Amino acid sequence: MGRGGCPGRGCRAGPGRHRSAAARATQGARRYRDAPAALAHAQRGTTLIYSRIAGTGSYLPEKVVTNADLEKLVDTTDEWIRTRTGIRERRFAADGETTCDLAFYAATHALDAAGLKGADIDLIVLGTTTPDIIFPSTACLLQHRLGANGCAAFDVNAACSGFMYALGVADQFIRGGQARRALVVGAETLTRMLDFSDRSTCVLFGDGAGAVVLEASEEPGIITTKLHADGGYKHLLYNPVGVSAGFRDEPNHGVRVMMTGNEVFKVAVKTLDRIVGETLEAAGMHEQDVDWLIPHQANLRIIEATAKRLSMSMDRVIVTVDRHGNTSSGSVPLALDEAVRSGKVQRGQTLLLEAFGGGFTWSSALLKY
Ligand code: UT7
Repeated sequence: MGRGGCPGRGCRAGPGRHRSAAARATQGARRYRDAPAALAHAQRGTTLIYSRIAGTGSYLPEKVVTNADLEKLVDTTDEWIRTRTGIRERRFAADGETTCDLAFYAATHALDAAGLKGADIDLIVLGTTTPDIIFPSTACLLQHRLGANGCAAFDVNAACSGFMYALGVADQFIRGGQARRALVVGAETLTRMLDFSDRSTCVLFGDGAGAVVLEASEEPGIITTKLHADGGYKHLLYNPVGVSAGFRDEPNHGVRVMMTGNEVFKVAVKTLDRIVGETLEAAGMHEQDVDWLIPHQANLRIIEATAKRLSMSMDRVIVTVDRHGNTSSGSVPLALDEAVRSGKVQRGQTLLLEAFGGGFTWSSALLKY
């Protein structure tokens, strides 16, 4: 190789064809289109990479099931459900409609909002506890339907914290330079798990999906995420059946939601109180810096308790539990998308997202939308 040629072994580029690694990295960070390694390199240098939400989407199945409909199935009343939970109605997936179907429509809306196609995505992380099949993951099924073949795709099971865990993981991939555009989904058909002879659980849940597209950015974006779990609480909220344990010769093979609701309620209120404090402290921010609280939608009374802890009036809290019920991993991204599309949440505002679920798992994200 002549003088001034590329020093790379076997590289045939002539003199002047290659810039320094530092220059390439900096440009890569500026344009967000060079190899992920360039982003990582830039991050190690002067440019800090964040992930920011480029688009949101959601999808609800068509079938609306009201409390009055449930009164016909189980020994309950509209009055009990409304006063104890805030739920008025929820959606049930149609026969044959799967978690991946819901995820696909939510993802398509998020991609449209971001002005992107499936092929532009280089990471899919999908939170669900009700995958279509055990493998391939629902993220892989979704990837193929979106034409995003080749990128990393995997599911996260953190029960109702599934979307928040997926968001935290995808944020780290982007900050670390391993991805530039990530699709993050929370999708569930939890009503498939319900035991309609158990009034203490079957009135609480609904089906649905939400999604966001995250993009690498020099501006935040996601400021911080917090993910926690304590498996010592399994006995308070769980499904007793899996592949290697619990299959029984009974309706639904024994699949059901087992919950000691009032105990879960107490731990959820205390734990969410703690995590919102921890999140604000990590970001060096205060309650009054938050424009919108976008909480997991399990119970209006839990949401009100968290809002009170943050000294936020309920008109700065996004509530969908009345119409969606508890959609587990779907709940936070559904609420976020509804808030964005209704015009409540505006670009530049600060959002606090949080969730609590089986595990126990609990999680939060503080971000500039
Ligand atoms: O998303 C994952 C995290 N999950 C949660 O955050 C859920 C947390 N827990 C809750 O939201 C509430 O505990 C529930 C809504 C599940 C229950 O409300 P509660 O005020 O804690 O009621 P409870 O479980 O203490 O039950 C009170 C009564 C009981 O009757 P007795 O024993 O007092 O006579 C229940 O049998 O309400 C009865 N009950 C019902 N009555 C009418 C339970 N379910 C029903 C029902 N309809 N569907």
